[in-house]
Amino acid sequence: MDGNGRWAQRQGKPRPFGHRAGAETVRAIVETCADSGVEVLTLFAFSSENWARPEDEVSLLMELFLMMLRRETRRLHANHVRLRIIGDRSAFPEKLRQRIAEAERLTRDNQGLVLQIAANYGGRWDITEACRRLARRVAAGGLDAEAIDEARLADELAFPDLPDVDLFIRTGGEQRLSNFILWQAAYAELYFSDLLWPDFGPDALRAAFVDFASRERRFGRIVEQRQVVE
Ligand code: IPE
Ligand code: MG
Repeated sequence: MDGNGRWAQRQGKPRPFGHRAGAETVRAIVETCADSGVEVLTLFAFSSENWARPEDEVSLLMELFLMMLRRETRRLHANHVRLRIIGDRSAFPEKLRQRIAEAERLTRDNQGLVLQIAANYGGRWDITEACRRLARRVAAGGLDAEAIDEARLADELAFPDLPDVDLFIRTGGEQRLSNFILWQAAYAELYFSDLLWPDFGPDALRAAFVDFASRERRFGRIVEQRQVVE
């Protein structure tokens, strides 16, 4: 989700105005995903690098996050959405951590859309943590280093049970991954939109789905082998 600040500034408004508008977009996009049969939606809300922003912007983003959890959790629950926060939550204010835990507990058994909010998440952080856990096991004698393969490492990631990313969408005109879920996005189809996040509505999302449907996913193979992986 990129472009909130620019969206506000273009209208001569302060950046927080854009973040609030962006929160409304979240609501519409979550609904569209749930209605479209998307199984997992991951929103990159706050990266581990976003702490470097001015203090008042960081605290506003925290407040917005808290407000969204307070305001939306019941509705998400009623719509069978399972909410998960991925990222290093230890750095969040206590109240936010509590609220996150409650929302996750409430929606834990829901069978609808899995909504993941990446907050204080970094792809490198995730992989590094996984490596550290494996290294500990090896050091303790419980694991043979030679037994570490991709599947074993993937098992140690913050959310090992999640499928790989199919479609990666970035708004706001930038064309980079910015340390998003790097491991799982290895074969993601990349889609870049020039729309700023507050302008990225259901129609824009559906356009991305249509584009995705036209992609030929070969996973390193050749066209004639395609059915093997589908
Ligand atoms: C939202 O957009 C992303 C968040 C970190 C919440 P930005 O805040 O990055 O907006 P721009 O890129 O400055 O326009
Ligand atoms: Mg940005």
